[in-house]
Order: sequence, then structure tokens, then C-alpha cells
Amino acid sequence: MAFSQITNLHVEAFDKEALVQRNPHAEFPAVEASRPDYDPSKFWEYSKTPKPNWKPGSGSICDAWKSHTLIAIDPDSPNRTQNQNYKLMISSTVPRPIALVSTVSREGVHNLAPFSYFNTVSVDPPLYSVSFVGTEANDSLTNVLDSGECCISIVSDWFLEAANMTSVNTPPHVSEWPLSGLHPVHSHMVKPPHVGESAFSIECHVHSTIPIYSQREVHDDGRKVRTATMVLFRAVMYHVRDDAINDRMETVDIGVLRPVWRGGGITYGSCFGGWETERPKAFRHLVEQEDVKAVLNQLQVS
Ligand SMILES: Cc1cc2nc3c(=O)[nH]c(=O)nc-3n(C[C@H](O)[C@H](O)[C@H](O)COP(=O)(O)O)c2cc1C
Repeated sequence: MAFSQITNLHVEAFDKEALVQRNPHAEFPAVEASRPDYDPSKFWEYSKTPKPNWKPGSGSICDAWKSHTLIAIDPDSPNRTQNQNYKLMISSTVPRPIALVSTVSREGVHNLAPFSYFNTVSVDPPLYSVSFVGTEANDSLTNVLDSGECCISIVSDWFLEAANMTSVNTPPHVSEWPLSGLHPVHSHMVKPPHVGESAFSIECHVHSTIPIYSQREVHDDGRKVRTATMVLFRAVMYHVRDDAINDRMETVDIGVLRPVWRGGGITYGSCFGGWETERPKAFRHLVEQEDVKAVLNQLQVS
């Protein structure tokens, strides 16, 4: 594939970020520069509970809530935008774990993207949910529905930036793997590889899908507008790092996993603190960068 084909912007995925405007800072690089460096030496530590001598019926340990009022917000109010509801929801339902979802397209393109509408659902069968949002299916959802499979890798702090890069809106024929610099590892039961850097990955088959429709919008022909698709995935194989699992092969050590969570705006957190990370620039801007050109040039097949 020639460089001009890789960077063919006519097929670039929709740049949702331009609409959402999730970065609250006018000059984020200056804000970031004013903050202390990330401290990788911080580690997970257990303490006592906030009030070890808490007695049944004694409620909260702090009365600060009494000096505040609760503001009622109606999500269906006519003058409230979807973006307001989105920002409210993602900043209050926190922390959310991040699934790095690996899929393969019909054409054989290896796709990788992060999703934080992600959680466990049940043990028998071992199900996980991922919600893919947008009126148009993103590449991950298209591939999941076409192939019936994916790999989910849990994101840890040592590859947060690389995971964030995979959210770039590349066209369907451009893989995010080389842009991230992450390493694909062969899976046992499914075609998509899992992320070598991740301490915990799950090979998955699609269990079922649940379409979600807009309450506000309909197509011109009266059909409901689909705004999201929730997919339930069944785990068919786990991969866990040898130093992260106990002898009984049951419990993953959070101190080794060092999971990263997603908050509102551009906020991310670990178990030790938080930071902000901007989304990657739209693909059309990214392809202007020399470092990105160098990566994409390596994909050329003469
Ligand atoms: C940390 C993080 C979490 C995200 N969570 C979701 C999510 O839960 N659902 C979703 O549809 N998009 C989510 N996104 C956006 C997608 O990753 C993004 O739209 C990406 O371009 C989709 O890639 P694809 O077209 O290759 O599937 C998230 C992005 C980031 C950085």
C-alpha cells in the first residue's frame, strides 16, 4: 500500500473529538508543564478503612454533605444538549476500567482501540460488556460484528500513552498497532492478537448484542437512530502475567496490574493519583507530523 493510500483522508473516520471538546484547558501544554512528573515508584498500599470502629447505623463519617444542596438535573430537558449529558455521565461514573479492544477486519486489517464503557457482567457464563457509541459503527464494532470475536487487554500505567494513541480516527485500512508501538501476541482461540504489554488479556467470542436507539432523533424515513451498540462478550481464554496471579490462579494483584481508569474530560487515573491526557489529533493532522510519517512509511508495500 502506498503512503498516499494510507493517508487517504477521504476515508478518515469521523472526527468526533472536534464536536465533543472534552479538553477544558485553553493551553493544555502549559498546564501539563506546571504539574509534577508522574512517579512510577508509587505503589499500591492497603490502609485501614476510614473508620475501623464504625458501628451499624452510624452512617457517614463526615457531615460536609449537610452544608450542601443537591441540584436536580433533568437529562431530557429540551434545552439540555447530549454533550452536556455525556460530560456529566462520564465524569460521575468513575473510575471506569479501560478495555483495549483488538479486532481483525474482513480485509485482514488489525485494529486496536480503547473503550471505557466496559465492565464485567456475569460469571456463568463469564461475560463482559463493551458499549460502542456513535450513529455510525466504528471500526472495532464493524469487525466484532463481522468476525464474532475480539481480544480485550486491560490498560496499565506503563502503556497509557500508547493505549490513548489507539483512539485516533484512522481510516479502516490503517492499523493503529504501529502508531501505538505496542506488541501483538498470538491468541489461542481467536484471530485478533492481544497486547503483549498488558498483564491481563481476555480472548472473547460475541455472546449477544443490544442495540440502543435515540430518544430524540429519527431518520427521515421514520426509522429510529441507533446511537450505540452494547456487545456482551464471553471469555474463552485468559492471559495473565506470571507475577500478577496468585498460586491458585484466582486473584490478580492490583499492585502488579497497576490499572488505569478513565474519568471525565481528559482525566485518567491510576490507583495512586491522576493526570490528564489529550486525545490524539485527528488523523488528517497527525499525518503531517514527521514521527508519524516515519511510522506510516514503514507500512508501505512497494
Ligand atoms: C480511554 C478511552 C475510552 C474510550 N471509550 C469509548 C467507549 O467506551 N465507547 C466508544 O464508542 N468509544 C470510546 N472511545 C473512543 C474510541 O476509542 C475512538 O472512537 C476510536 O477511534 C474507535 O476506533 P475504531 O474506529 O478503530 O474502532 C474511547 C477513547 C478513549 C481514549
